[in-house]
Amino acid sequence: MLPKHVISSLDLSKEEIELIFDEADRYEKLNRTSKELDGKVVALAFFEPSTRTRNSFDSAVQRMGGRTIGFSSSEGTSVEKGETIADTVRMLESYSDLIVMRHKLDGAAKFASEISKVPIINAGDGKHEHPTQALIDLYTVRKVKGYIDGLNFCVLGDLKYGRAVNSLLRLLTKFKPGKVFLVSPQQLRIRTEVKDTLNFPVIETDSLQDVIDITDVLYVTRIQKERFADEVEFEKVKESYKVDISTVNSMRKDSMILHPLPRVNEIDRRVDKLPQAKYFYQASLGVQVRMGVIHQVIGDSR
Ligand code: CP
Repeated sequence: MLPKHVISSLDLSKEEIELIFDEADRYEKLNRTSKELDGKVVALAFFEPSTRTRNSFDSAVQRMGGRTIGFSSSEGTSVEKGETIADTVRMLESYSDLIVMRHKLDGAAKFASEISKVPIINAGDGKHEHPTQALIDLYTVRKVKGYIDGLNFCVLGDLKYGRAVNSLLRLLTKFKPGKVFLVSPQQLRIRTEVKDTLNFPVIETDSLQDVIDITDVLYVTRIQKERFADEVEFEKVKESYKVDISTVNSMRKDSMILHPLPRVNEIDRRVDKLPQAKYFYQASLGVQVRMGVIHQVIGDSR
């Protein structure tokens, strides 16, 4: 059984993670349908834009027989009139059985969990965490390779502002990865407070070329333009890396490329048709993984 709220990858034990993966497999076999949320309502409170997370949660709830309410931006809500997160959460908890929340502020989901009577699932809070994305990431590795332990991971891109990266690395603390390479421009290196939560060594470099031939899982991220305080700083790093056909030619034949998406221009579109490109498959697994998470939080297992 999961903790009541899912805020950080660090909240999950290895057993709970594997249970979610097993449930995702089970839902796939059931053609992603069940009736276990019959009569239940889930609030999707998205204060920041989303395509995959919001729609896959919406699809997951509906496929489980439940219904959703909510919003996809602050626009059109009473936040525009000055309503606080706390008051918004107090309203949504009285209208729903579970709140899935995305917000631009680090710690917003944790704050909501401290005042909400219904469970909170963090769907991304600022540059902090996005734990259900990390579950999808490692579930994809397990689907493609059959195992996670011992694989060499290379995380490429914006490691300073990318919340998906933080959650992925923190979820990996529950496994036994091989080497973990963190490849980024100097300005976008992982923050110390995140590195301090890891229980495995990381190798930081700005050269993808030095590590690509021994990488099993290449995890690419976009530069999080919206988190830069200074446009000039973004301009300095915006074209600093790109995965193209020649990159993939240096990779192991049985390696894979993942990306939480959305992609901007950090992966050449010609890579999409190569066998290593698994990022659209990864996104497609979002519904069954989120069904697995919802099942553990408010479904039959409670
Ligand atoms: N990966 C991810 O969080 O995508 P969205 O921003 O589209 O939800």
